[in-house]
Amino acid sequence: MHSRWPQLDGLAYGGEYYPEQWPAEVWEQDVALMREAGVTLVSVGIFAWAMLEPRPGQYEFGWLDRVLGLLHDAGIAVDLGTPTAAPPPWFLSRHPEAHPLTRQGQVLGGGSRQAYCPSSRGYAQAAAEITRQLALRYGRHPAVVLWHVNNEYGAPLGECYCEASAAAFRDWLRARYGDLDTLNERWGAAFWSQRYAEWDEIDAPRVSTSVVNPAQRLDFARFSSDALLACFTRERDILRELSPGVPVTTNFMANNCKSVDYWRWAREVDVISNDNYLIAERADSYLDLAMSADLTRSLADGGPWLLMEHSTSAVSWQPRNVAKRPGELRRNSLAHLARGADGLLFFQWRAGRFGAEKHHSAMLPQGGTDTRVWREVVALGRELAGLAEVRGSRVEADIAMIWDWESWWALELEWRPSVDLGYLERVRAWYEASWRAGLTTDFAHPEADLSRYRLVVVPSLYLTTPQAAENLRRYVDGGGTLVVSCFSGIVDAWDRVYPGSHPGALRDVLGVTVEEWLPLRAGERVGLGWEAGLGWAEGDAVHVGWAVGWTEAVRLAGAKAVARYSDGPAAGGPAVTRYELGRGQAWYVSARTDATATAALLAAACESAGITAAARPADGGDWPRDLEVVRRADGDRRFITLINHGGNSADVTIGASPVTVPAGDVTVIPAGRPPAVR
Ligand code: GLA
Repeated sequence: MHSRWPQLDGLAYGGEYYPEQWPAEVWEQDVALMREAGVTLVSVGIFAWAMLEPRPGQYEFGWLDRVLGLLHDAGIAVDLGTPTAAPPPWFLSRHPEAHPLTRQGQVLGGGSRQAYCPSSRGYAQAAAEITRQLALRYGRHPAVVLWHVNNEYGAPLGECYCEASAAAFRDWLRARYGDLDTLNERWGAAFWSQRYAEWDEIDAPRVSTSVVNPAQRLDFARFSSDALLACFTRERDILRELSPGVPVTTNFMANNCKSVDYWRWAREVDVISNDNYLIAERADSYLDLAMSADLTRSLADGGPWLLMEHSTSAVSWQPRNVAKRPGELRRNSLAHLARGADGLLFFQWRAGRFGAEKHHSAMLPQGGTDTRVWREVVALGRELAGLAEVRGSRVEADIAMIWDWESWWALELEWRPSVDLGYLERVRAWYEASWRAGLTTDFAHPEADLSRYRLVVVPSLYLTTPQAAENLRRYVDGGGTLVVSCFSGIVDAWDRVYPGSHPGALRDVLGVTVEEWLPLRAGERVGLGWEAGLGWAEGDAVHVGWAVGWTEAVRLAGAKAVARYSDGPAAGGPAVTRYELGRGQAWYVSARTDATATAALLAAACESAGITAAARPADGGDWPRDLEVVRRADGDRRFITLINHGGNSADVTIGASPVTVPAGDVTVIPAGRPPAVR
């Protein structure tokens, strides 16, 4: 649904606030400093179950009454958490059966958070009751503008394999298939003697002697996502009933959570919100940030979304928690804003003194206000107040990319042709090519309407439903340009290979067949060369780039070769093809391409689809490698954000205007005004 934005002026700014970790004397100081920083929204109560219900059925709301009152008096709005991600010690001690069980058979203990089986009845009752009590007390509180249910469903616990989960899985299967004959047929039960005669014979797919039935694994992944979703909707429905008009969210982890199918979840929340943390080891982690933001916006169907969490500096859970450099907090924040966020929140407001996350950065560091981070936080609050008019505008994307959790699950099960072909890795490769070409990418479900895009990239969609295949065919037929990467269209929703030659589901869309996959040895690479006479090769420069780890024996069945393998097991054969179908064209990239080849192929497909970036390099050369550019628009209001992540200043031309973005700087250009470079 995700259309009900919280009642807030301007862009939301703030963080997660844990007053329960501090003596009451600190609260007033907190609120005063929040005002100084320009904070407008804080999340409260997310892990406070034991402080709100110290014994079952005994509630202590006095402290939260005071905190909400203080915040409201200061004009700071509240995103109120249901604390159900952190059941108190009494819960597991009364419900030992609710301890989660891993696939490997390990019973997980307490003393942490998220330690409950999603299918546990005891958990369902306790979570519903604390949610009801909170909603009764604060459902109409003037400070509460948003409900924050639980926290990061799907991580660290995505699946539970206990008896209760196995029973719930059987119920889910009964509802899906109705009878065992259908299930046996879908699951390919004739293989390895897996035919089920009674429902009770079906178990959760625990670790076994060898590979477990992949169809069973896929259905268990679907079930597990749905089991967590049921935990969310249970609380949401209580909140909707007792707190009418206040939207409900739960924080996603977009591209960083494999266990939850957010396309299904997105329909159930009122506001899409996301958490994003940089992988500090990666110097180009701004690419993952951009990808996460683009996927989040796409889950919000292009509408506004809330960055629920990111960090002001280092996190505390990576092997090396590298601190953000001066200016990085601003670049990260404005990148989320540029990509459609209408609010930016941090984990966390004040650095804690105890517990597992005490070394995590915060808006207010351990060192207080005389710190670089605090100064940057205050400056950002001021800058966001000045950018309030960006709110409500929509991002203009140049291309779309297909994203599918089910295909991710299926591609990365055991016994695939090569471990070198990963889902996220392929999406990221194509995403990076688009980012570095100065283009903006929307993500789309494989069965979504694609007609508004001129070019759609399909990174390794191993599992392709007939509906998705038909959707892609219709898209090309209607005039679209499709770029499909290797190992797509191979199996249906139950991991069953499509009859006939590969790529079964997409043969007719791509005009090729694949006789054999030809994975390479570790570290092996194979050259790709442009086909002569097509205009892509310049002079003698026929080299496109490299195939790394994966090639295929492709046969043309209507398509024409665009590039060929120069050597390797498919030497001389087509590596990249182009098929004219209806009013459009479908490209097939049969190799796992390196960055050079991926960039060259995307550029060629864009040229052939007539797509150009909004900004051009000033000297007619290459796009400045570390420059990010994104457009947001709303009627006549247009904003172009340029973020220079590099160490050299970047010169580009937008329309007829030259723009210089100094190293490490951000420029937001409102339309109709001269480019304002800070
Ligand atoms: C996650 C959680 C937070 C906190 C942060 C730390 O996103 O939701 O509670 O643990 O990570 O980075």
